[in-house]
Amino acid sequence: MEPILDIQNLDVKFALRTGEVTAIDNLSLSLTKGERLGIVGESGAGKSVMGFSIIKLIRKPGFIANGSIRFRGTEISGYSEEEMRSIRGNRISMIFQDPMMALNPVLTIGTQMTEAIHAHMDVTKEEAERIALEKLARVHIPSPEKRLAQYPHEFSGGMRQRIIIAISLLTDPDLIIADEPTTALDVTIQAEIMDLLIELCESDGMSLILITHDLGVVAEVTDRIAVMYAGRVIESGPTQAIINTPQHPYTQGLIKALPESRTPGEPLYQIPGMMPTLTDIPGGCAFNPRCPMKGEICMTTRPEPAFADEKTGHMAACHLVSGDLAS
Ligand SMILES: Nc1ncnc2c1ncn2[C@@H]1O[C@H](COP(=O)(O)OP(=O)(O)O)[C@@H](O)[C@H]1O
Ligand SMILES: [Mg+2]
Repeated sequence: MEPILDIQNLDVKFALRTGEVTAIDNLSLSLTKGERLGIVGESGAGKSVMGFSIIKLIRKPGFIANGSIRFRGTEISGYSEEEMRSIRGNRISMIFQDPMMALNPVLTIGTQMTEAIHAHMDVTKEEAERIALEKLARVHIPSPEKRLAQYPHEFSGGMRQRIIIAISLLTDPDLIIADEPTTALDVTIQAEIMDLLIELCESDGMSLILITHDLGVVAEVTDRIAVMYAGRVIESGPTQAIINTPQHPYTQGLIKALPESRTPGEPLYQIPGMMPTLTDIPGGCAFNPRCPMKGEICMTTRPEPAFADEKTGHMAACHLVSGDLAS
């Protein structure tokens, strides 16, 4: 199947006063219709920069330095802002962490939804309202007719995020990029929103990129996972393979740090150390200061992605996986 989104060798840089730094380093990933891909990694890994880059919302001093982004077979990395508007918020929708940021507090939900529809579609007022109602029902908001006349503050956090999702559905997008969509919500609501996203992907054949620091969440929702560290994908493959047979010591650390991996009576495991800042990425393997398995080569040579399992496409960029550490 032709991928809906195909990113090859993407480099994103920030032009800082002190020089250029690389925020996304040689990132390649692709996604087929209906597929759900998780992007996971600690804060500062480059997940959001990656998400913004796809829809070209990367702002100065950030810029796409290299690489190809093909959406439904068309190269969009060179698109102008005007060309991008036919895709962003239309064929590709984005959902962010804080629903209050995405909603205008002084306009009713109905006004915001119909404005969004008119921005992308040439329809009558009645038709716009019909679509808005249909999408609110789609995200299981009770009595949508009444809800259209209400303001954002009249909804709970979970309901607001449902409204954001309904808005993201207005144009029947091919792809939704959800960046930490439930981080601000409690666990029960989070699970409901994730179930909703799965349901929408399955019924409409929509593709999803779910960005989160929470490996537990992506494990529940996605078909495949890409683990990011210091701007690179350091491991990727089918969700089952990543969770059951993680190859990179960083991924292994993330799994060990999950609440469900905790040994009763012991404190929750934390990977020692911190994600490096862009100006301070270690030479060799960027993870080496934190790695319990590092050897000589890890200090000097950056590991390239190698297959852990060629059949499933499970890959990791680690000298252990390529066999260079053992030799
Ligand atoms: N506008 C910017 N200028 C300089 N550095 C930035 C900018 N935006 C993000 N960064 C840096 O890029 C890195 C990745 O950030 P981000 O994608 O937000 O991480 P994540 O979403 O994984 O937590 C971080 O080191 C962050 O400090
Ligand atoms: Mg982020």
